[in-house]
Amino acid sequence: MVAPILQTTSSSTIKGGNPAAQSRLSSPLQYSGSLNSFSHSDLTPVIGREYTGIQITDILKSENSDQIIQDFAVTVSQRGVVFLRNQDVTPQQMRDFGERLSHLSGCMQPSSSTLHIHPLTEESSELGDQISHQTKKGGGLTHQLSDTSRFASVGWHSDISFEPVPSDYAMLKIHELPSTGGDTLWASGYEVYDRLSPAFAIFLEGLTATHDGGFFHDEARRLGNPLREGERGSPLNFGGELKAVHPVVRTNPVTGWKSVYVNRGFTRRINGVTKDESDVILQYLFNLVTQNHDAQVRFKWNKNDIAIWDNRSTWHTATYDYTETRTGDRVCSLGEAPYFDSLSKSRRQALGEGA
Ligand code: SIN
Repeated sequence: MVAPILQTTSSSTIKGGNPAAQSRLSSPLQYSGSLNSFSHSDLTPVIGREYTGIQITDILKSENSDQIIQDFAVTVSQRGVVFLRNQDVTPQQMRDFGERLSHLSGCMQPSSSTLHIHPLTEESSELGDQISHQTKKGGGLTHQLSDTSRFASVGWHSDISFEPVPSDYAMLKIHELPSTGGDTLWASGYEVYDRLSPAFAIFLEGLTATHDGGFFHDEARRLGNPLREGERGSPLNFGGELKAVHPVVRTNPVTGWKSVYVNRGFTRRINGVTKDESDVILQYLFNLVTQNHDAQVRFKWNKNDIAIWDNRSTWHTATYDYTETRTGDRVCSLGEAPYFDSLSKSRRQALGEGA
């Protein structure tokens, strides 16, 4: 487990952020305008944008692809999640796009953070280590959750936060759909931060939390595959412990905005307070995510649609309300070790929207 590091510069206090996987950005990235010719609609005021007329395969081939992909990263980080309909991109091209998105956003450390290998990915999987091929045969909510909870909201998470170097971006293409159901929801970590009172926000900014993906051991046994204990996309992500300590409030280096970074799926304990206090704080923060439908966007998939999201500042959950098969491919890149910069701003503050 990586211990949090406290570092003070002349102007700001940086908390967390293992120097071996530090962001290379010294200030937020600026959008250059290269996506302005494509029409888009913002699906809610705080999260989600859908573009029309963009094929990822055309971006990959275009002369100014670096500029467009970098603007894409800025847009995904600002809007939380971006949707593109009916994409003809192959799993290999998704891998290329995901790698360039992370690299061009300035977060990927060329020698340390690459694409993630999920602990459950089978050795010598057909599409390669860095593509998670997801096939799920739904059975309706009661079947999926009967041993744990009848609340569909138990599924909210941000990807792989149990890794010392977790994900910056993820992209998912769904190519086989049930006739109804199987929507995915995302919620904004920026907006949840903006719903905290200033006093509570300052309290949380001083805390870290422990994230734990230990349940993947049971899942690996159930699937009959060994858990991937070698390097999982970063030299800091290895072994079978599947635990990490991260700041409770995290700065997104691409936007410079603060986001709450605990999630129902993996965060088990706020550190430095009693267990009772930790339970109350975590439950309150999880409620802010699940009970504020105006901090969420819900996406109804068509075949071959793609979602690209920023895992530092959003949560998401699939909906297991279907009974047929739903299949997709996912690529998940690694960014920086999470840190909190005392000089960073809230999203509303940065946009002049007022709290
Ligand atoms: C995920 O949980 O990472 C995938 C979401 C989905 O399958 O809708």
